[in-house]
Amino acid sequence: MAVSVIVGAQWGDEGKGKIVDLLSEKVDIVARYQGGPNAGHTVVVNGQEIILHQIPSGILWPHTTCVIGNGVVIDPKVFMNEMDFVRDQGIDVEGRLLISDRAHLILPYHRCLDAAKEASKGEQKIGTTGRGIGPAYIDKVGRIGVRVCDLLDEKQLSESVTSSLDAHNKVLETVYNCEPIRKADIIEQCNTFANAVKNYITDTSVFLDQAIKDNRDILFEGAQGTMLDVDYGTYPFVTSSNPTSGGACVGLGVGPTKLDNIIGIVKAYTTRVGMGPFPTEFDKEFSEHVRQLGGEFGATTGRPRRCGWFDTVVVNNAVRVNGLTSLVITKLDVLDTLPEIKICTGYEYDGKVFKNYPADLKTQENATPILESHPGWLSSTKEATTWDALPDNAKKYLNRLSELTGVRIGIISVGADRKQTILI
Ligand code: GDP
Ligand code: IMO
Ligand code: MG
Repeated sequence: MAVSVIVGAQWGDEGKGKIVDLLSEKVDIVARYQGGPNAGHTVVVNGQEIILHQIPSGILWPHTTCVIGNGVVIDPKVFMNEMDFVRDQGIDVEGRLLISDRAHLILPYHRCLDAAKEASKGEQKIGTTGRGIGPAYIDKVGRIGVRVCDLLDEKQLSESVTSSLDAHNKVLETVYNCEPIRKADIIEQCNTFANAVKNYITDTSVFLDQAIKDNRDILFEGAQGTMLDVDYGTYPFVTSSNPTSGGACVGLGVGPTKLDNIIGIVKAYTTRVGMGPFPTEFDKEFSEHVRQLGGEFGATTGRPRRCGWFDTVVVNNAVRVNGLTSLVITKLDVLDTLPEIKICTGYEYDGKVFKNYPADLKTQENATPILESHPGWLSSTKEATTWDALPDNAKKYLNRLSELTGVRIGIISVGADRKQTILI
């Protein structure tokens, strides 16, 4: 009986969706704790690809209860579409979905602000997913957000929407030259959403507390990754939440003493989508080669992902900040055809060697990776279902990753399908 957190240990898209789905077979509850529809979590079952944005990736197993925690920002329209999409897959969500009464809403003006802010930054833009994430979290900490519990009280909803719109319409009109948003439209959208989900709204912290007391098996599903964490990522090229394990406690109302396993998901190499520093990034041509091998296109926006070597400085940042207890290495198969594979063990800049990820952008942008070279295995790992079935050079590479990070590897993924998995 355990509570396990699934955390992205790089810049997101590590394969969290596949691993959450896989582990969900044996858990009772799966809970998202932060982020929103910026996430794109892919699950492949019997060759069919399903991409989830806001609903936890455990929803495909009929025995699970799926929770949207207080730390998540919910876009009502996207959420309702996703519920329809999930139902269209033949999955019954009734009675299996719980939404925190304290979660905040992403409303149409957040999307407008996200787009307008990015456009105004020009070359300096962050390359957000355009889903209104940053502006919604700004409202939350700015104490003008609209929360899920407001949906259940007409007067409260009206007051919350007014205070939020008063602040935003002025900015939209005068700074960004956009049309003001009509209060009546927002209220109507909120009411439609309230009707669709009113039976799911509850105090999910209390629900999870009871589930832990009842010795249920629980998975906390992180979105994004440690390097996109607003505190420990490549600030300001980050998202606006804490994808790290501490974020799981805050975003679900569960105390840190209740967490048993913190599982870091890492690709056997590195990718990032959007702008910002990426010390081990390949040159354009090789990036394109690996992008094709790994199908590295964003699950939410379809944007091409930037690709690079495995970076121990990045992963060790995640090991420390999250307190990782094990690693899951995904997409090992993508390296099958490469004759030489490199691992970054540190950075050099300005005559200094860096083993810990530096805070300042200048160092991050100018850091030269110190790379060690490993021979490839030049054979397919896609069919392997045991450690012994892996080629020797693949085993050596994986052992080196474990040695450099000081964390044991619990699972290796060699393909997108549930079956393409090695449990250690
Ligand atoms: P997430 O955001 O961390 O859930 O990851 P994404 O779903 O955005 O991106 C991971 C992509 O890699 C998806 O297309 C998955 O289907 C795919 N994938 C996951 N694990 C593996 C693997 O071991 N090998 C290969 N080739 N693809 C994988
Ligand atoms: P999953 O959960 C990869 C990136 C964006 C951008 C930055 C800020 O699928 O791993 P935002 O829209 O959050 O304000 O954008 O964060 N980003 C992701 N990159 N995977 C994700 O989620 C991401 N969610 C946001 O590309 O660089
Ligand atoms: Mg993704």
